[in-house]
Amino acid sequence: MVMDKRMPLMVGNWKMNGSLSANATLVADLLQGMAGVTCRTAVCVPSLYLSQMQGLLAGSAIDLGAQDVSAHASGAYTGEVSSDMLRDFAVRYCIVGHSERRQYHGESDAMVATKVQRVLAQGMTPIVCVGETMAEREAGQTEAVVKRQLAAVIHANGHCISEIAVAYEPVWAVGTGLTASPEQAQQVHAILRAQLRAATAHADRVSILYGGSMNAANAANLLAQADVDGGLIGGASLKAPDFLSMLKTASR
Ligand code: PGA
Repeated sequence: MVMDKRMPLMVGNWKMNGSLSANATLVADLLQGMAGVTCRTAVCVPSLYLSQMQGLLAGSAIDLGAQDVSAHASGAYTGEVSSDMLRDFAVRYCIVGHSERRQYHGESDAMVATKVQRVLAQGMTPIVCVGETMAEREAGQTEAVVKRQLAAVIHANGHCISEIAVAYEPVWAVGTGLTASPEQAQQVHAILRAQLRAATAHADRVSILYGGSMNAANAANLLAQADVDGGLIGGASLKAPDFLSMLKTASR
């Protein structure tokens, strides 16, 4: 059971990319290449395509994920999508607190913690993103920043905390082609694991993913680290051969 929980988890974050036809092509290419993939796999797609993707992925080894959720249950929140709505489309994972949401949409630690509550209440797995900017790293604040971000989520979610997944995504590595070294990633993942251990007896069940310019060439060394349990992959998840290669690496 514990081992199952930590089966590598590889998640594609499509961000604001795709179209009805491009999605169909990408999924067809992925499904054709899934033989031998044993890691847990998901793709987090734009909300508008959840219905299409629910159909395309039905019965496959790829789970469906969303990229964000409202902090509110329902009501007058124009443009937002609730956790109940995600559940309607068999969504299994939901990214919460991605650095692009924190940066461009002003999401606070408290808001992220509330969103995590919403996702857990629907029986889905939130993928909670934490990570420092380059300025914070250079100022020696990496540990303090990621701990502060995770602490808000732990505080609001109590004993449910072992049901989350975490993604360490250094902001300076997201979409930049710069990647944390395996040692840098492991160092932060170990800090996050220790923080989870202090909060729950089941911290070893929590998958801690690395994200930030992970690709087919660097995945193996990152995934070899003791506390790197998978990846949250942006750009490289949009190319079927690259994503499949990473899934196979994670399945070894
Ligand atoms: P990237 O994005 O792989 O393109 O750096 C990762 C992410 O933002 O989740």
